[in-house]
Amino acid sequence: MCGIVGYTGFQDAYQVVINGLRRLEYRGYDSAGVVLEQPHHFDVAKTKGKVDDLVAISKDFVGRAHVGMGHTRWATHGVPSDNNSHPHLSNNGKIALVHNGIIENYDVLKIMLTEKGFTFKSETDTEVLVNLIQYFMDTHPEMDFPTAVRSALNEVYGAYAITVLHDDFPGVLVVARLGSPLAIGLGNNEYFIASDASPFVEFTKEAVYLEEGHMATISLEKGVDIRNIKDNVKITPQIQELKLSLEQIEKGGYEHFMLKEIFEQPKSILDTLRGRLLVDEGIIKMAGIWDHLERINQAQKITIIACGTSWHAGLIGEYLIEEFARIPVEVEYASEFRYRNPIITEKDIVIAISQSGETADTMAAIKMAKEKGAFIYGICNVVDSSIARITDAGSYTHAGPEIGVASTKAFTAQLTILALIALKLGKHNGHLSNQEFMRLITELDTIPQKVEEVLEGTHQITKEIARKFVDAQNFLYLGRGYNFPAALEGALKLKEISYIHAEGYPAAEMKHGPIALIDENMPIVIIAPKQGHYDKIVSNVQEIKARKGKVIAVVNRGDTQVADMADYVIEFPETSECFSPIVASVPLQLLAYYIAVFRGANVDQPRNLAKSVTVE
Ligand code: AGP
Ligand code: GLU
Repeated sequence: MCGIVGYTGFQDAYQVVINGLRRLEYRGYDSAGVVLEQPHHFDVAKTKGKVDDLVAISKDFVGRAHVGMGHTRWATHGVPSDNNSHPHLSNNGKIALVHNGIIENYDVLKIMLTEKGFTFKSETDTEVLVNLIQYFMDTHPEMDFPTAVRSALNEVYGAYAITVLHDDFPGVLVVARLGSPLAIGLGNNEYFIASDASPFVEFTKEAVYLEEGHMATISLEKGVDIRNIKDNVKITPQIQELKLSLEQIEKGGYEHFMLKEIFEQPKSILDTLRGRLLVDEGIIKMAGIWDHLERINQAQKITIIACGTSWHAGLIGEYLIEEFARIPVEVEYASEFRYRNPIITEKDIVIAISQSGETADTMAAIKMAKEKGAFIYGICNVVDSSIARITDAGSYTHAGPEIGVASTKAFTAQLTILALIALKLGKHNGHLSNQEFMRLITELDTIPQKVEEVLEGTHQITKEIARKFVDAQNFLYLGRGYNFPAALEGALKLKEISYIHAEGYPAAEMKHGPIALIDENMPIVIIAPKQGHYDKIVSNVQEIKARKGKVIAVVNRGDTQVADMADYVIEFPETSECFSPIVASVPLQLLAYYIAVFRGANVDQPRNLAKSVTVE
């Protein structure tokens, strides 16, 4: 959500900033802007629309400056418009600021500043902050620029990542974060600032991830000076070696990142299992969980908190952990959990699942559970993300960077990690016999190969089926047991990228309501593997056919009973029921992808969505 790029060095700042903003486009945004430092003024261009629209109005900025910053906005306060786009300048034109997040008390500050004579050109909370910095400098002539930023930040609450320039302090970038991510790239005689490392990975492999509540003053002369916003205590930067490669964040010949990521799944699942699943030795090795096995096994209950796709993974985690480890599990939307006074004690374990590791609701829910004394285990994809850092222990999914806004490979990697955790706990606490454990881990080991087979076997057919449903207005997705959450996820994928209304339901629940929707125009995707309530699913398909619904059946290879009744059949290789959502989700991703492509939708950056939702 929203992207920030900043630069000071010897390169053309405009090019670095624009290329950086393009790398951050995947995060989701509605407007873009750039500001370059000039002697005694700023060059500013900003517009509603895409980075291409920004380039169209700022082409002549090329080669003008060595210091600058840019922003892609995901509107929270005020509609997407040229005026509301960032950067915002202070009333005296001397301070330029870009901001990701929300200043929650902007309204009282705006009243105070208005009373002091400040005026506002936009509806944003951001413009209040930049003027608050000016106010501090106006009223405290002795105050330098970083101190004024720090003083202003101490007056605001909410969430932010900001980068600020001041005309009287050329070459100085002040950056700060609370709740929204910000990384500083350390080059050779140049510094980069960005919401994640992708804008600068081609220039440097060294980065400092700014911690919560910290700010940094960056200049070529003085380097990077990090302070605590609250009390100005100097902090020694922790320099990280970036593992990210340029290849990982490029499309590699695929039309969209989403398609590339769908096809990466055999490898990403293998990477999730690598070094953890040791079938020959008959063990699951998970560094993150090993030291805490006893605590987790003695938990009164496990609460899984997450949002969106990660929440769907959590639901499957509930089935896995309850079945194999027999520990009670609850799954909650992080946004609900944090506001409803849940019963959590120090005997509880909270598992937080997040691809990005930056989701504001999940972060806030973790903080609340921590205050209540729970032990927090994180499952994140982005290494060193905020959630990965605030949890007590955890496992990375290692799916590699996921750029498409619609999560695909991160989801199957989350399911893989949850399967490993459930099997490991079950083996350790004795609920899972050695024989059963061996059978399951041997099967889990074959999943990357089965995902490979399902990609090969269903790519063409899902594309053909997708063509038939380009004009559908609604879709139902049904599944039972482990495949009920897979149905929810299939529906979410379709609505996110094609904008077709889709709902997921437990197949048996259909008769309690959604059946009223079924007629010859209603496509129904039904996940019906051989294991787990197959007979019941057969009856559900009969109920649908009796009402002339169009059935797209996702069945095991060689299925005849459901396949014979269905209008369209997608086959996937047989596997244990508990792993079937991993394999069955793949054709559902392809189906959503092709329907969206045929409708001409922007698959990688669907409207209104952001990759990491860093605001509440
Ligand atoms: C996934 O396709 C969605 N874009 C969204 O639901 C996402 O899963 C959700 O915002 C949670 O994100 P996270 O996993 O990064 O915390
Ligand atoms: N709250 C700010 C605005 O609406 C920043 C939004 C963002 O994170 O892009 O302009």
